[in-house]
Amino acid sequence: MTTRTLRIAMNGITGRMGYRQHLLRSILPIRDQGGFTLEDGTKVQVEPILIGRNEAKIKELAALHGVEHWTTDLDGAISDPTVDIVFDASMTSLRAETLRKAMKAGKHIFTEKPTAETLDEAVELASIAQEAGITAGVVHDKLYLPGLVKLRRLVDEGFFGRILSIRGEFGYWVFEGETQAAQRPSWNYRKEDGGGMTTDMFCHWNYVLEGIIGTVKSVNATTVTHIPTRWDEQGSEYAATADDAAYGIFELETPGGDQVVGQINSSWAVRVYRDELVEFQVDGTHGSAVAGLNKCVAQQRAHTPKPVWNPDLPVTESFRDQWLEVPANGDLDNGFKAQWEEFLRDVVAGREHRFGLLSAARGVQLAELGLQSSAERRTLDVPTISL
Ligand SMILES: NC(=O)c1ccc[n+]([C@@H]2O[C@H](COP(=O)([O-])OP(=O)(O)OC[C@H]3O[C@@H](n4cnc5c(N)ncnc54)[C@H](O)[C@@H]3O)[C@@H](O)[C@H]2O)c1
Repeated sequence: MTTRTLRIAMNGITGRMGYRQHLLRSILPIRDQGGFTLEDGTKVQVEPILIGRNEAKIKELAALHGVEHWTTDLDGAISDPTVDIVFDASMTSLRAETLRKAMKAGKHIFTEKPTAETLDEAVELASIAQEAGITAGVVHDKLYLPGLVKLRRLVDEGFFGRILSIRGEFGYWVFEGETQAAQRPSWNYRKEDGGGMTTDMFCHWNYVLEGIIGTVKSVNATTVTHIPTRWDEQGSEYAATADDAAYGIFELETPGGDQVVGQINSSWAVRVYRDELVEFQVDGTHGSAVAGLNKCVAQQRAHTPKPVWNPDLPVTESFRDQWLEVPANGDLDNGFKAQWEEFLRDVVAGREHRFGLLSAARGVQLAELGLQSSAERRTLDVPTISL
């Protein structure tokens, strides 16, 4: 049996996403399970190389997790001929430059979203990937969540009949940082550092809407900075210049040509009265479903109650009890790990990954148009982009 070892240079590994989701939940478990086996019997193993600016910190992380290789020299890792893949989970504003260099050096890339801060840059990255002939993967983690995998299965099984609408609620209270430390990094609330709800989340919503329903044809958004002053990691007060909430309406088209209305509220200034931090409800002529990160419940047409509006009477039915849970019917691994494995298989096979830089560019496009729509207070069409 042959073993192929993929050397993965991992940048931004001290950050929240890089460390928890990509190193701890994905690459180390793949390494520790002994890699994975391809259909032809080839064994694929991974070898991470940790990259960070702070030598002491990166060295300590490497020792803690039994990782042999680490460096503070990002450019050196990118040009290292033994490196197969460059991964980036660093600050959004630094990403495009790292990806550009890596692809030009002939490396496959796997990256956090958003891939760039502007559509032009995101499209340029997609062109570079095409010219370089490398495999590029962009995190589309929400589509690998058990809740959304079940929701997509209901779409594939024709459960909904004609789909009418999708509504999403995302968010939770992010503390200002004054008396209680904020639970998200402060750069997220500074526009000049690449922060902002619309930039952060519309790129997710684009692939979620595409992946569950169909193409996004237009956007109308209201973006707001509800909390204008926050306190950073050092306890210093700063002006929160980025939007912390985005209320979007999207016109969608299914592959069959049906028109669907999408609405997604995203806010870091909202308190949760939901089962999960994100939830999507899809309504169709034959059934409806509500999916969160893990759970998905559904209600068929035949089991749909017939409420009658009467404000003079107390509610007599328990509406939540009228839904049935959709079973997983299989093992649904951590979403980040599942996508990593799929991407690594694509790298070895020398084929495209299904969620690449063009899909990511459409996400950046939706974020840009969302911000523009809010600034101009009008609905904007989403033009098709191609290379
Ligand atoms: N897929 C998702 O659900 C998801 C969720 C959150 C964030 N993200 C994305 O992941 C990326 C990282 O977000 P995070 O929340 O982990 O942020 P973070 O602030 O926790 O981590 C940022 C990383 O970048 C490094 N960094 C910061 N400033 C730097 C500089 N000036 N030079 C070099 N390196 C620097 C940090 O050391 C750290 O490793 C962002 O692009 C964000 O959009 C994705």
